[in-house]
Amino acid sequence: MQTRKLGYSDLHLTMVGLGTWAIGGPWQWGWGPQDDQESIRTIQEAFDLGINWIDTAPAYGVGHSEEIVGKAITGRRDEVIVATKSGIVGNPNKPGTTMRKMDAAGIISEVDNNLRRLNIEVIDLYQIHWPIPDEMIEEAWGGMAELVKVGKVRYIGVSNFSVEQMKRVQPIHPIASLQPPYSMVRREIEDELIDFCAANEIGIVVYSPMQAGLLTGKFSQERLASLPDGDWRRTNDQFKEPRFSATLALVEKLRPIAERNGKSLAQLSIAWTLRLPAITSAIVGARRPSQIVETAAAGDWNLSPEDVAEIDTLLDWHTAQLS
Ligand SMILES: NC(=O)c1ccc[n+]([C@@H]2O[C@H](COP(=O)([O-])OP(=O)(O)OC[C@H]3O[C@@H](n4cnc5c(N)ncnc54)[C@H](OP(=O)(O)O)[C@@H]3O)[C@@H](O)[C@H]2O)c1
Repeated sequence: MQTRKLGYSDLHLTMVGLGTWAIGGPWQWGWGPQDDQESIRTIQEAFDLGINWIDTAPAYGVGHSEEIVGKAITGRRDEVIVATKSGIVGNPNKPGTTMRKMDAAGIISEVDNNLRRLNIEVIDLYQIHWPIPDEMIEEAWGGMAELVKVGKVRYIGVSNFSVEQMKRVQPIHPIASLQPPYSMVRREIEDELIDFCAANEIGIVVYSPMQAGLLTGKFSQERLASLPDGDWRRTNDQFKEPRFSATLALVEKLRPIAERNGKSLAQLSIAWTLRLPAITSAIVGARRPSQIVETAAAGDWNLSPEDVAEIDTLLDWHTAQLS
């Protein structure tokens, strides 16, 4: 699979990375029940397909996702770049929920829990999960920089940060990467974040490129109604009307473009995010081996300028439906 260099770092990421939020299983922001053995098979399938990096977080399943990743990479550590996060951790007083830990001492002590769950000696990319509270980001970033100095972390990045927030922390230690949302129906990063990152040698690893499954062509009103109670998508704005129906209609308009290329809609939505060279990689979630078998192939599909132009027209149509 094609790779791109992550910002100023020496990490070369495959253009599709595996996301492991859903693999965390049930918790406050879970995706409903998940079978751990199937999760491990999914992760190993991703590596077999040539995907060389994985994204997790202590929040996902309140530590469970990291533990599953740790099990799945046993014996294959050298093949894989491991990215995880800081700043949101399990709340010991309320099982199944999380809390913020953004003080430098908390960031520094928590990394040992990441390392233990992942069963590794060093984290390749450690990212602040959310810039909340805003006034703590310099303090948290100072703790992150300390972890690079002591060798527990190779590179540090941020997630969900604005340009203004990145400018505040960049003088403390260079930012290796930004992890923002990006999909055909969430294009906010095009306003200024992409240009800022490109100009400052900051890699971009985008999340939810299939808008949590909504752009795969396999979502429907019936599917939404049958999601289990614990699935966060039941209450998310993207899955509410009128947006939900407008996006399903968009997907049907996109279908012929995927079909004439002999590809699936899931592959189209991921390849579209990768059309810009400033995007290092797309983090693609999967909870079954068959899902990543389908989506990994998007990492080798370079969309033609004609397809990109046609998609742009359809995305304008989608925006107009909602304005
Ligand atoms: N930094 C952050 O704040 C943040 C936020 C969100 C995500 N992320 C990261 O980004 C990763 C990816 O984002 P995401 O998981 O939210 O969204 P996504 O990659 O757009 O969608 C993943 C979901 O789509 C469905 N799916 C996957 N492959 C499919 C296929 N071939 N056909 C049909 N459906 C398929 C699966 O759910 P079902 O089978 O249940 O439909 C899967 O869980 C996460 O796992 C996480 O690592 C980070």
